[in-house]
Amino acid sequence: MPVLEIKKYPEPVLKQKALFVENIDGALQELIDDMIDTMYDAPGIGLAAPQVGESRRVIVVHVKLKEEAHPLIVLINPEIIQVDDKVVSEEGCLSVPGYVSNIERAGIVLVKGLDREGRPVEIEAEGLPARALQHEIDHLDGILFVDRMSPIKREFFRKRYLRKLKETA
Ligand code: NI
Repeated sequence: MPVLEIKKYPEPVLKQKALFVENIDGALQELIDDMIDTMYDAPGIGLAAPQVGESRRVIVVHVKLKEEAHPLIVLINPEIIQVDDKVVSEEGCLSVPGYVSNIERAGIVLVKGLDREGRPVEIEAEGLPARALQHEIDHLDGILFVDRMSPIKREFFRKRYLRKLKETA
């Protein structure tokens, strides 16, 4: 299964609101498999379809670290239905290579959506999986973690990032 190219900020697909998935067909299963492979290859703990250029509401999350391992999550049309707690922690993104920032997120989330077979599921998560779910669902609304930084920090990031892009182009 092919590893897909990960789109990098400021590619426009990352700013778009992704479309709801209507048909759970073979092409979607293929996209999901390719997203999982791409996430493992990166390596990363989550990936949203817009990051591989597909503006559709599909995410994969797999927190599988030495210290902490959780099952693979595949969600179609995910929605956060409840949040609790606030946690500030360091975050990065495969679409914004080389940058991390402290971002405030809910500590606990309840997310509903469809699994890859189209069955309705609800997932409660806390800690890193909760953070990853919020980060990936943000991608479906065209929101990057840098959009959640303070305006001053974001402007500083933007200038540095775009300057570096120019230098390496
Ligand atoms: Ni990301």
